Amino acid sequence: MPESSTMPPTTSSTGAIDLSPRRAHFPSLALEQNGQPVVYFDNPGGTQVPQFCIDAISAYLSASNANTGGAFVTSQRTDALLAEAHAGMADLLNASDPREIIFGPNMTTLTFAMSRAVGRTLTVGDEIVITALDHDANAAPWQALAEERGAVIRMAEIDPATCTLDMADLRSKITERTRVVAVGYASNAVGTINDIATIIEWARDAGAISYIDAVQFAPHGPIDVQALGCDFLACSSYKFFGPHLGILYGRLSLLERLAAYKVRPASDEPPGKWETGTQNHECLAGLVATLDYLAELGGDYTDRYAGQFVGMTGQRLELHAALAAIQEYERGLVTRLLTGLATLPGAHIYGLTAPEDMQRRVPTVMLTVDGHTPRELAEALAPRGIFCWDGNYYALNLMEKLNLEPGGGALRIGLAHYNTAAEVDRLLAALHEIVG
Ligand SMILES: Cc1ncc(COP(=O)(O)O)c(C=O)c1O
Repeated sequence: MPESSTMPPTTSSTGAIDLSPRRAHFPSLALEQNGQPVVYFDNPGGTQVPQFCIDAISAYLSASNANTGGAFVTSQRTDALLAEAHAGMADLLNASDPREIIFGPNMTTLTFAMSRAVGRTLTVGDEIVITALDHDANAAPWQALAEERGAVIRMAEIDPATCTLDMADLRSKITERTRVVAVGYASNAVGTINDIATIIEWARDAGAISYIDAVQFAPHGPIDVQALGCDFLACSSYKFFGPHLGILYGRLSLLERLAAYKVRPASDEPPGKWETGTQNHECLAGLVATLDYLAELGGDYTDRYAGQFVGMTGQRLELHAALAAIQEYERGLVTRLLTGLATLPGAHIYGLTAPEDMQRRVPTVMLTVDGHTPRELAEALAPRGIFCWDGNYYALNLMEKLNLEPGGGALRIGLAHYNTAAEVDRLLAALHEIVG
């Protein structure tokens, strides 16, 4: 990995954060279409990865490739890698113990597995609270469980005008029968950040398990599971510049107490008890390298944010500083995007748009434009080298509430820290040209 000193400065003379020099780490940003560099605004569907990640995957397969627990060097390297990956993710999420980190293929599969384990403790008439704002991965597993166990699903509503959770409705749906409260940290469609600290407290007071889907929030801000006090928090590393893997944080006492679906020789202790079969070792190597990349980025900003992360040191502090810097940088970008979209003829932007609300959203923006289907817009942007998603992105309940499903959903523009103001301007110019 290059030394920090070889990187250009990442703070301007005015003190504003500029992360554009970090683009040099991402080889895929050099891809061109029709003579122009491509613009990745498909980030909520999956982000690009730094060269360190690509190299680490290849290096693992070249010199460490083995199963775990063997008496020989490649197996020992693999054991060490797994320990490093658990410790690294504990740093990223500020978990108190690496055993609280569980790896799996993706967030959805981990959530189906954990929900089944939780289901063993449910009885008929128990209640599970989900929300209309969530990705289906934090709804369908709980709905399937409720069907199987005779539990009752209570879905918290949204305020369609702002695409925020109706907190009064959610509060009223948590009762003494509630066993699980499943809620997203941030919406993968409209970008709303939920007040999960309050929701977790409500769940705890009711004696219910809190299950947080942080897939969409993780690339955009620092996460502290200890400060939040949540029971579970899931994310996916391919959404935060790593390979295709899912990660689940679980409170140690719960991971110990709940019964896992597992084979007999596997460990009875977390995390092994929850990590079924053989893990994707090469992707775990890639994840460790992505964390190195983020820690290096954060190293430039530890002084700036030290007051925000009291008690953290080393890589843990660097990772949190990195995500704080990313959050600050992205707020400028998304403000620019929303300001520009406000002048686009026929555009409807869903979600929070006021400048004072930028703290309550991630830079994931959803819109429709009169006279153009979302697919038409995405198809018109694609040959211009600008990649955006259209459809429902599995935020099905939200799309139905907004009555957008029949028209093909909406266009989603999702920014990441390697995007620039120039790219936002290119998108705005292209949209103005397409819309006329
Ligand atoms: C908010 C949110 N939750 C869950 C998921 C599912 O993640 P995975 O693909 O890791 O199962 C996604 C994927 O887009 C998402 O955006």
